[in-house]
Amino acid sequence: MTNIGILGAGRVGLALARKLSEAGHHVTLGRRDPKDDTLTATEDTGPRLAFADQRTTARTADVVINATPGDSALDRLTGLRTELAGKILIDVSNATREAADGLPGELCHPGGSLAELLQAALPETAVVKTLNTMLFTVMTAPETLGTPPTAYLSGDDERAKKAVAGLLGDLGWQPAWIEDLGDITTARATEAMILVVPHVLRRHGFAPFAVSLAR
Ligand SMILES: NC(=O)c1ccc[n+]([C@@H]2O[C@H](COP(=O)([O-])OP(=O)(O)OC[C@H]3O[C@@H](n4cnc5c(N)ncnc54)[C@H](OP(=O)(O)O)[C@@H]3O)[C@@H](O)[C@H]2O)c1
Repeated sequence: MTNIGILGAGRVGLALARKLSEAGHHVTLGRRDPKDDTLTATEDTGPRLAFADQRTTARTADVVINATPGDSALDRLTGLRTELAGKILIDVSNATREAADGLPGELCHPGGSLAELLQAALPETAVVKTLNTMLFTVMTAPETLGTPPTAYLSGDDERAKKAVAGLLGDLGWQPAWIEDLGDITTARATEAMILVVPHVLRRHGFAPFAVSLAR
């Protein structure tokens, strides 16, 4: 059992929290307002799912998942440097500016990546980028797609990536579907994959998809 803290209780955060909790991990959802009872009064409370503010969540977890908006994540997570030291930070966010229709538009960090900036700002934390290349429903149910999807991994710390691959397994990802691309600079490629997403969403709506490798 891993003590997992998830920052952001939106679509991604909640889906990951439910599945990781079902898999036996202790999960804390870090909310801006932990007293907000829109979730705590539902089936989502349980022995392995707790709620706290984001700082407490980062401090008390061993593995922290960033499921907050990517465009403001660098400042927010840099502010949690002490709490995140010595831990694995899984970044699933996409740092984009919205297009006129509210869908992801331009990259906030063209020529680089949020993951690289996070790793540079948090030298005592092992940042691993993954799961940002698919609709949130696929993150916790990869087996439901007609074509096997890909979960890419980018990170400098091999042990951290191994641990994250284990958590992906708990989410339902088969080893053959996990593609370790290399160090954190490889997140430039997977963060740029978001550029295809608004076009897919405009054509097909929010039907589950992943930007995958075919061999
Ligand atoms: N939706 C997808 O299919 C998808 C797929 C791949 C990657 N992503 C990425 O995953 C991240 C979360 O996406 P989402 O769809 O779950 O978004 P969402 O439904 O809008 O949830 C984001 C959550 O982050 C928290 N939050 C919002 N603004 C914040 C702020 N300024 N400071 C701190 N916390 C804040 C909120 O949680 P509280 O109200 O509990 O504080 C909010 O519910 C984004 O970076 C997105 O790009 C999403």
